[in-house]
Amino acid sequence: MESIVIHGGCEGKEVSPAEQLERTQGVEQAGIIGWEHLAAGAAAEDAVQAALEYLEDHPAFDAGLGSYPNLVGDYEMDALMMNSRGEAGGVACIQDVQHPIAVARKVKEHTPHHLLVGLGAQWFARLHGLPPFRVGPKTQRQPTDQEAAELLDRYLEIIENQTRYSTVGAIARDTTGHICAGTSTGGIPGKLPGRMGDSAIIGAGTYASQAGAACATGVGEGIMRLAVTRQVVQALAQGLILDDAIQNILAQCSHEGIPCGIIAMTAQGHTLAAHNGTFMPVWQAAQRR
Ligand code: GLY
Repeated sequence: MESIVIHGGCEGKEVSPAEQLERTQGVEQAGIIGWEHLAAGAAAEDAVQAALEYLEDHPAFDAGLGSYPNLVGDYEMDALMMNSRGEAGGVACIQDVQHPIAVARKVKEHTPHHLLVGLGAQWFARLHGLPPFRVGPKTQRQPTDQEAAELLDRYLEIIENQTRYSTVGAIARDTTGHICAGTSTGGIPGKLPGRMGDSAIIGAGTYASQAGAACATGVGEGIMRLAVTRQVVQALAQGLILDDAIQNILAQCSHEGIPCGIIAMTAQGHTLAAHNGTFMPVWQAAQRR
């Protein structure tokens, strides 16, 4: 059964109807793009990459072009791709690339490593022919020491009051039964420079195995601490039904005050999404041949 599920981030505050519509339509379009790849017989990786690249180019999502800036106005992005054979590649705190998920896939397919960060990840992207791409205004500058000190004073307030987590994620199962999952994000707004969230970390923002796959969105520190996606897939491996696998870990997140949204897929291609926030656009499709 070919199958796909896409999300466009879980929000912690009310989202206006206009923004809900824009993001719902964006996720739907990304889903259709991914689905067309699957229907044409493409690999799950191609479907996930195409869907997430669309969302990375869409300014309404916190990934690629729409990434939130960090505390000093730079755009540092995280992404990871992992498949049901356990093959994984990710990038963290990467700047100046259009599609972090494309770089993550190249890490997966062209290196023995699982994660490249910062300048090394950018260098690797150039090496593989991915040109420089400026995310955000060109006028960004580093703050002076005094400005940085003032920003740091405000940092905890910024982080405590932030409720936007429009990270994007996708899971696809192709005609061969192979599953791939991917996540891409600009991270939480106002984060400290060099802060890596859950999205690039295996078992936190994304996980896949022969038992299924999951992607998470929300506050990365909590998602990392609970190894959210690893727990979902582990629960599937232990025989839990998809709903229970997701709800168990979501209950833990809620108990600990961690805003979180999850999409997941079983080995057979059944999909489900759930969240403890106010809004999470999701698109899913499946077809038995
Ligand atoms: N979940 C996105 C982040 O915390 O970076």
